Amino acid sequence: MDINGLKCVPELLCFTDGTPVNDPAQWPARRAELLEILRREEFGTAPAAPAAVKGEVESTESVCCSGHAVLERIHISFETDNGLFSFPVNFFLPKADKPVPLFVLINFRPDVYDKYYPAEEITDNGFALAVIHYNDVTSDDGDFTNGLAAMYDRSKYSWGKIGMWAFAASRTLDYLLTRPEIDAANAAVIGHSRLGKTALWCAAQDERFRFGISNDSGCAGASYERGKVEGNEMVKQITTNFPYWFCERYKEWVDRADEMPFDQHFLLAAIAPRYVCVGSAQEDFWAAPVHEQASCIGASPAWELHGRPGYVGKREPAVPGDDFAAGDIGYHLRSGIHFLGRGDWLSYMAYIKKHLA
Ligand code: GCU
Repeated sequence: MDINGLKCVPELLCFTDGTPVNDPAQWPARRAELLEILRREEFGTAPAAPAAVKGEVESTESVCCSGHAVLERIHISFETDNGLFSFPVNFFLPKADKPVPLFVLINFRPDVYDKYYPAEEITDNGFALAVIHYNDVTSDDGDFTNGLAAMYDRSKYSWGKIGMWAFAASRTLDYLLTRPEIDAANAAVIGHSRLGKTALWCAAQDERFRFGISNDSGCAGASYERGKVEGNEMVKQITTNFPYWFCERYKEWVDRADEMPFDQHFLLAAIAPRYVCVGSAQEDFWAAPVHEQASCIGASPAWELHGRPGYVGKREPAVPGDDFAAGDIGYHLRSGIHFLGRGDWLSYMAYIKKHLA
């Protein structure tokens, strides 16, 4: 569990009261504790899932991606405390004769097509792709009076914007699981950067996602906080620049990493014993690639408890081109900048194909 002198603490396999966790039967309770800590300290609490979620196909492009796929514009809607809420989803579905695995991508832009997803390559690889534009859920700022933020009473739920985007990804899955074209056992949630944090938080809470995929998620995502150095983003910068992504309490940990009752390996471990895959970019020092790899190593005991291989890869810092897909925790480091690129997708698709249900 040592990487560059980093040791992932607090202990994963130990309840807060000190009781050791040494039997997989104890895991659901320990996982519940991890989620509770992450809600309380970092991402805040969210409302319960709505009783019913509706999806309406508003339009269909029956020839897309070389004619091998269709593109549907879907309206997702559900009841909230303050009435009906809805948002659009672009859904790429390969023409296939059996149910296909699914990516739910939370994305930065509404564009069809967008630089962060090679739609044709994804559908040609046999995956469906549902894309949510995060601003259609709620704005990426401190305004809590628009979109999903306005639909629930702020005094009842401490969630920040990351929690809201994650909630919308789960509602998208609610609907897509009713579609016979989707292989319900093989759903993945994916996002880049702030939306990689979101994808991890979504997968941590929503066990229907078999795969949680984090691309360059950095601070408050896959990146282990303790031991960061100047130039890596830390709780201090993130809560100064983006306080509205989190619950209020997260600020408490500014300049106090070593006292935190959690670290980001908890977020990955809350996905255990399902699958999590983390991608880093060499030049993305702000997101701290070494610390992203460290969380993968640090989360590994949660899988080993189940007799599963967690992280199977180098213990020393990865070099560009390293792609560790053998274990249930995948990790790759590629050359280049902060970006969700074609190479990242190819790596994630190969990892998922290896670990399909
Ligand atoms: C900023 C922020 C990061 C975030 C990134 C992004 O750089 O500090 O935490 O991941 O934006 O979302 O692109």
